Amino acid sequence: TPTPMPTTPKLGFTAVPAGSGNSIVVPQGYRYQVIAPWGSPLFGNSPAWKGDSSETGADQALQVGDNHDGMHFFPLTGADGKELSDEGLLVMNHEYCNYEYFYKPEAGQTYPNAWTLDKVRKAQHAHGVSVIHVKRVSGEWQVQVGSAHNRRIHGNTPMLLTGPAAGHALLQTSADPTGTVALGTLNNCGNGWTLWGTYLTCEENFNSYFGTTSATDTRSALMKRYGLSAKGTSYRWEELDKRFDYAQEANESNRFGWIVEIDPWDVSSTPKKRTALGRVKHENCAMTLSADRHVVVYMGDDQANDYVYKFVSAGQYDAANPQANRNLLDSGKLYVARFDAGAVAGDMMGVGQWLLLDKTANATLAADASFADQAEVLIKTRLAADAVGATKMDRPEWVTVHPTTGEVYLTLTNNSSRTVTDDANPRVSNAFGQIIRWRETGGDAAALAFEWDLFVLAGNPVAYPDRTDLRSGSANVTADNTFNSPDGLAFAPNGLLWIETDGSNSNTGINQGQGNNQMLVADPVSKEIRRFLVGPDGCEITGITFTPDVKTVFINVQHPGEVSGPNAPVPPAGQTVNDVLLANPTAFSKWPEAAPGITGPMGRPRSATVVIWKEDGGVLGV
Ligand code: FEO
Ligand code: CA
Ligand code: CA
Ligand code: CA
Repeated sequence: TPTPMPTTPKLGFTAVPAGSGNSIVVPQGYRYQVIAPWGSPLFGNSPAWKGDSSETGADQALQVGDNHDGMHFFPLTGADGKELSDEGLLVMNHEYCNYEYFYKPEAGQTYPNAWTLDKVRKAQHAHGVSVIHVKRVSGEWQVQVGSAHNRRIHGNTPMLLTGPAAGHALLQTSADPTGTVALGTLNNCGNGWTLWGTYLTCEENFNSYFGTTSATDTRSALMKRYGLSAKGTSYRWEELDKRFDYAQEANESNRFGWIVEIDPWDVSSTPKKRTALGRVKHENCAMTLSADRHVVVYMGDDQANDYVYKFVSAGQYDAANPQANRNLLDSGKLYVARFDAGAVAGDMMGVGQWLLLDKTANATLAADASFADQAEVLIKTRLAADAVGATKMDRPEWVTVHPTTGEVYLTLTNNSSRTVTDDANPRVSNAFGQIIRWRETGGDAAALAFEWDLFVLAGNPVAYPDRTDLRSGSANVTADNTFNSPDGLAFAPNGLLWIETDGSNSNTGINQGQGNNQMLVADPVSKEIRRFLVGPDGCEITGITFTPDVKTVFINVQHPGEVSGPNAPVPPAGQTVNDVLLANPTAFSKWPEAAPGITGPMGRPRSATVVIWKEDGGVLGV
């Protein structure tokens, strides 16, 4: 039984200043601790974290994965039938791995060392999802190691392809001529959850795992549209695991880019790739109900100049019959958004249309021979959206639905390649990003039209003091709350909007005064935004989920101390990261070493979950 919350409380915490440094900063009166860093044991037979990255592939399959991203807290139920706020299943995505730390340095070898199949398996096992039983004991959150609920799902876990595209010729491979049984989920970025208590993990940059060792470029137009590389990949799986060589298995990549439904309450359940939701580089997804109780799922495709989608189920949700809802995501209509300027161009508000991606009902797609049937529309979702004239957006990342009004908010993180602007994407070479929101006609999530406006145009009034310059941001951006690249986004059940960033942490030039990646809280009514948290150097802040009482929030610190990204510290000239680690394993960040909740040496920086609460036990943010 969810606890009802008052709507739209006011922000009630003291903002924290922007900054750099290797620790977490939270507001006065708040506390935090770190749990479940990469490599933590989950099962009775899990090896302990070794600290020198010497774990094998088999070891990694028994430990928490790497690069924590989207997650959801599924509360356990107490004896009184109410949802608990101090015990539940934390279900978490693991997006990728940082090879520069991921393997033990080997003398005489250059990064990432002599290449073996076990190293491929270790990387595959660091991806996917962890189901982690967590509990607060005497004020401290603990992972319940050995709990029967704990589970690892990774890059080789068998799962089913379901829905309209299942079994299609484009999904068939030599290992699976049925086109229905896939191995693994990869690049698990953002997430969603269903009204019937299951978890949705979203497959984002799957293209980066596919390459070829052959000399010829055999990529199809479909592979090119989804960004598969003509050469080898930085993951190097295609060298030793041939399903990742697109010249040998042309359809394997079509089995990724889906949203996968996982039942976290049944460790023996088979995850399902729901093809009705379309195939893109899924960031996250957000579920709500239409006026007549069809399930509606909003989704972003995170690529510069790609699109925003929604799915409306054919069947209706029945709250009284959870089993009947189990396959609602297998049949329905898929739409892509067009954002129009409306009555006034340049005012950052307008109207929009949902364009149906249907081989029969959409005349453009019906006439287009490049889609043989609806299954091909779903497998080639981006190409179908191109054909119907959807609006090219500034990298659609997370989407979230207001808990009572149904208004939808979506982050557009940045777009360095934008050359032509429109009302919804009003800046060329957009370095800061924006948050767009829309209201469906009649308040019905299944409506075919909507009104939209920009909730915030992120920007930097420190670097651009002229407030008529769009790079200074909208009026709710100040020198005190300036940030760039909004990415993670979630409404708490009490109607406050939490914003997480994944952008430049240089704190110089156009990013002066913005500090490290951070988390902010916004009032959707007044549009006020306050900085709530600053992360450690090199990280992004991502993943967000609340306990039912909104007194505890879980977030993820991803790739702390990253040394391969645009903001990374660089090894000395002539040396690789491997050289530096061999010579001096303490040379780089080892966050969360010495953070609250962590004992013992880390040896490596580790993505980890941060749990935050108020010292007085109150509701967060107010
Ligand atoms: Fe995986 Fe778009 O972030
Ligand atoms: Ca993201
Ligand atoms: Ca991002
Ligand atoms: Ca990321």
